Amino acid sequence: MKLINLDHVAIVVSDLDDAVERYRARYNVEPLYRETVESQGVEEAMIPVGGSFIQLLRPLSAESSVGRFLERNGEGLHHVAYAVASIDIALAHLKAEGARLVDDSPRVGGGGAKIAFVHPTDLAGTLIELVERPYE
Ligand code: CO
Repeated sequence: MKLINLDHVAIVVSDLDDAVERYRARYNVEPLYRETVESQGVEEAMIPVGGSFIQLLRPLSAESSVGRFLERNGEGLHHVAYAVASIDIALAHLKAEGARLVDDSPRVGGGGAKIAFVHPTDLAGTLIELVERPYE
């Protein structure tokens, strides 16, 4: 198992248009794309920075996991995502390590990537997402 890259840092926002506009004004960056990911209950904007992205997440409903996060914590840092060459190898390794996983098997995320989450109680209170991009 090898981490290839810091894929993205995800930030939950209540108003995606407003957050995109504030990032544009403050930091002179633009989203590469926006996408609704029904399976995760979010609309996301992916803003490239170097070889990584800032992922702005807006919950589609208050009942989704990100919706509950927003209600509990307000806007803010949600997870850190690492790119891996093989999500199957990464998950097998983490299972062997006894890591506490949110996802036992990969699911499909934004951009058609295969993704899986590792529970924040597993390491330093950080929700970690592993991402296998289709082009890698
Ligand atoms: Co993410």
